[in-house]
Amino acid sequence: MDKFIIEGNRNLRGSISVSGSKNAILPVMAACLLSPGKSILRNVPDLIDLKTMAHLLRIIGARVEHFAGTMTIDAKDICFSEAPYELVSKMRASIYVLGPLLARLGEARVSFPGGCAIGTRPVDLHLKAMGELGAEINLEHGYIHATAAKLKGSDIYFEKSSVGATINTMMAAVYAEGTTTLHNAAMEPEVDSTIDFLNKMGARISGKGSTTISITGVEHLFPVEMTMIPDRIEAGTFLIAGAMSRNPVTVRNCAPQHLQVLIEKLRQAGCEFDIGTDSISIQAPQTIKPVDITTLPYPGFPTDLQAQFIALMSLSDGTAFIEDTIFPDRFMHVAELNRLQANIQLDRNIAIVKGVPALSGAEVMATDLRASAALVLAGIAAEGRTTVSRIYHIDRGYDRIETKLNAIGARITRETS
Ligand code: UD1
Repeated sequence: MDKFIIEGNRNLRGSISVSGSKNAILPVMAACLLSPGKSILRNVPDLIDLKTMAHLLRIIGARVEHFAGTMTIDAKDICFSEAPYELVSKMRASIYVLGPLLARLGEARVSFPGGCAIGTRPVDLHLKAMGELGAEINLEHGYIHATAAKLKGSDIYFEKSSVGATINTMMAAVYAEGTTTLHNAAMEPEVDSTIDFLNKMGARISGKGSTTISITGVEHLFPVEMTMIPDRIEAGTFLIAGAMSRNPVTVRNCAPQHLQVLIEKLRQAGCEFDIGTDSISIQAPQTIKPVDITTLPYPGFPTDLQAQFIALMSLSDGTAFIEDTIFPDRFMHVAELNRLQANIQLDRNIAIVKGVPALSGAEVMATDLRASAALVLAGIAAEGRTTVSRIYHIDRGYDRIETKLNAIGARITRETS
């Protein structure tokens, strides 16, 4: 398993570029199953999670190629409607094939996703919505077995805002008879980009950017070509890295409009910004002020930046309260950050972060994707050497993070064992 060796106390300076959004590409890859033909996706980074999805699509019968940032998916001859345990247990987003398979083949058998490092993550909202579209759902031998001769449009109310359930249900409903209306739908940019992709394919979806989305069923969808949106979580991670540094850092190829709440919170911490159409420059203050956050569905503060923000707050000159309402158990990084001599206590789903003057390098372990990013940021700022083990987690969602950060002054070496 690979490790990062990080020489700390580094000041970052310069410009760093953001890759295509993992969480926008995953559903669009699954959406390609809806049309019998070859779609082309651009701005696709080299990430383990995308390789896992590509593997799954190949098992289903699609041809997937990925070279130099371009991915082609030819779903002409799909024939197999199963997502096996081996892949779903590696990546929960495999559940995204449920809606498209049901819509195109009338059947899907997807392994039931278990828990994961960030807590229990049910799929009840996905299943309830498919049921309301007329699918028959059976749970058998650890698998979700969904069948439907023809799905029928319906009014669906989500009791919780869910990115995954909103996208999966939209993909299931594109061929349904009549109109489906989703209420309390998620508004994340990744939902919008999936709507753009599906509409480009010929779907009839309205309500983008709102909590009410309507899908009117169509007879055919066609393969398309689309450039994927930038990754707002990678961009946010780099902005927080800039906030932990003394020199200016510019994050390029990003979408500033997707990062407004983070920018506002970093302003409250004392950072100054210069914002362009697709770039953001950040200048950190001499002393970081403590800022409280509560994670919420978009446009609220993203849970996927909670760990990185805690790393920043561990160096503030006061006490910050960081609450996660989306994944209340997502705090595995707290114990690891405390190994770097941060001072963080947990009270249920609230981290109480008392700032310390400096972190001190140590051996730590990555527990999940975003926790790993937080440890890397903390390691760059800490005095001395930090070793982060189990970095396969970070490779799931960050494309060559060490190369990108080293280019602006970090000193991170990957040790392969
Ligand atoms: C997506 C993102 C993930 C991000 C999360 C929240 C992808 C591949 N992953 O995950 O990075 O952290 O959004 O922004 O895009 N829930 C239920 N029942 C369900 C589904 C969800 O109770 O059937 C709950 C979850 O436990 C959680 C909340 O709803 O508390 C939001 O989860 P959801 O938006 O569905 O997250 P994902 O789509 O899995």
